[in-house]
Parts: sequence; structure tokens; C-alpha cells
Amino acid sequence: MNRRRTAILISGRGSNMRSLIEAARVPDFPAEIVLVASNRPDAPGLADAKQAGIATAAVDNKIYAGREEFEGPLQALFDIHRVDLICLAGFMRMLTAGFVERWSGRIINIHPALLPAYRGLNTHERALADGVKIHGCTVHFVVPAMDEGPIIAQAAIAVLNDDTAETLAARVLEEEHKLYPQALRIVASGDYSVDGNRVRSKLASASARV
Ligand code: GRF
Repeated sequence: MNRRRTAILISGRGSNMRSLIEAARVPDFPAEIVLVASNRPDAPGLADAKQAGIATAAVDNKIYAGREEFEGPLQALFDIHRVDLICLAGFMRMLTAGFVERWSGRIINIHPALLPAYRGLNTHERALADGVKIHGCTVHFVVPAMDEGPIIAQAAIAVLNDDTAETLAARVLEEEHKLYPQALRIVASGDYSVDGNRVRSKLASASARV
């Protein structure tokens, strides 16, 4: 099997990164993780990736004049490691439209809300403030607009009476850790089609605990 060479971009904790690394350990998983890169040299996830035996790199965005300058060395790393797919996992930088378009269909992101609801930050606080009863997470193809792009997979959970932003975040995160490997499996297997915002695949792409 030709496993897709996959890079993960992080900015911090890296728990989704760990779930992807774990999933890709299984020999029949259609992606292998070949690189973990962070824009923050102090991202805790980098040490975990190194410990898992994966090549790591820090490209500190602060030392570059702008987004394009930052993406130069990032792209060079992807070239060196012959990267086919990019997974954004808690990566807190916006990428330029040029970069995203170059990787169109080969770059995916996980977002802690049921898109198209709650794009942006503080999704759990906003969901609680709105009183929604169902919340969750989404993996989608990345397009130049933030938190938009064809939806690959979603998981929904019930909001409980005594939920705080923290308890809700923790339960959504548990779902994220299951969902992201499923979504990467879909993309890396190539077993899907895209029609506008709709991604169709025979592989599992939705779950609900409501
Ligand atoms: C996750 O909730 C992810 O959905 C969001 O940022 C958080 C990253 O957490 N984009 P981690 O670094 O994967 O632990």
C-alpha cells in the first residue's frame, strides 16, 4: 500500500496530533506521519512527537516579516519530507490564500464546533451562551477563508445541564481524538468525492452521542 506521507502542524498541546500518530501506527492505515512542525518552538506537542520517533521542526513565525516569509521554510520542509497531506491540529496561524491553494484538497483542519456554526475562537463558551443542546467537532478541507471548506467528518455530543466551557471542551476533545483519524483515513485512502461543500465517502464520517 502506498501510504500518504502526512505532516501535522501544531501550535501547542498536540493531543490531536498524538491521536493521529497513534492511528497511523496501524500498518493498514493509509497515511504515515512523516513530520510534525510547530510555529511555536515551545509547543509541548513537539517533544511528544520526537518521543514517538517522528521528525520535528519549529518554524518560529515571530522571526519572519510576514505570513509569506514564514511559509517559505515551511514549504521547504514539506518538500524535503516529500509531504502529500497536511493536517492542521491546533495550529493557530492563518495561512495565505496562495499556500492554501497550492495544497488544495491536501490540507485538512479540525475545528471544535459543528461547522458552519461557531467559526473562530471560544467555540464552547459561545455554544453555552447560545444555549444550544448539540455541540461537537468537524474536520474539513482547508480553503482560504477561516473555518470554511468541504466538511469531511463530524461528531456531535449533547450539551449537559451542568456543563461548563471546560467540561464541554473535554468531551468534545474526546470526540476530536476519534474523529480526526477517521477523517484522515478518508482523505488518505482517496475513497471520497467532493461536490461543492459535500464530501461523500463510503467510510464512516459521522457520529452522534446525543
Ligand atoms: C482542538 O480543540 C482543536 O479542535 C482546535 O485546537 C485544539 C487543539 O488541541 N483547533 P490539541 O493541541 O490538539 O490538544
